[in-house]
Amino acid sequence: MELCFATNNLHKIQEVQAILAGRHTIRGLADIGCTEELLEEQDTIHGNSFQKADYVFRTYSVPCFADDSGLEIEALDGAPGVHSAYFAGPQRSHQDNMNLVLSKLNNTDNRKAQFRTVITLVTPSMTQQFEGTLNGTILTEKRGAGGFGYDPIFLPDGYNKTLAEMSAEEKNQISHRAKAMEKLMKVLVSFK
Ligand code: IMP
Repeated sequence: MELCFATNNLHKIQEVQAILAGRHTIRGLADIGCTEELLEEQDTIHGNSFQKADYVFRTYSVPCFADDSGLEIEALDGAPGVHSAYFAGPQRSHQDNMNLVLSKLNNTDNRKAQFRTVITLVTPSMTQQFEGTLNGTILTEKRGAGGFGYDPIFLPDGYNKTLAEMSAEEKNQISHRAKAMEKLMKVLVSFK
């Protein structure tokens, strides 16, 4: 089957292609001629993940899956959540976003947080969502130079390194995205 992964991230596409080689052909957005920005207008991570996959399926008539992720902080009632990419403003600066989180948690003892990824698969016969989470703690300062987003301030439960201090391989073993992707792959490999 030919499937679109609704992303322009070549690295993500190649990773999935390698797992599904011989079973399915994975196309990125550019491969199917989708050059417009996919809208993310919903107020939940589940909603945005569905909106992107559903749009591509209906517009380009190709089975599609799309992912959406965010950081949910308990003491902030789940914020930044669906607004993670632009929490501190439209400049979408990872540094500004982290600084804002740190200042909002100043003097807060409860620093529990989780990353969440939701992947939505839309085909002619079904729509299904796959979820992965990673629990951890927000530190009081940034540590590490790897990764992206909120990685330098996120300490996964059971580890003494932030996500930004881990190698890409280490992060991929435990990440929210990897867990959701693993669930999707289990379904796709059994797909005709
Ligand atoms: P996206 O839906 O994967 O584009 O993620 C939205 C935003 O959530 C990103 O811009 C980051 O701010 C944050 N985020 C998602 N996944 C991660 C991660 O693995 N590490 C750090 N930040 C993340």
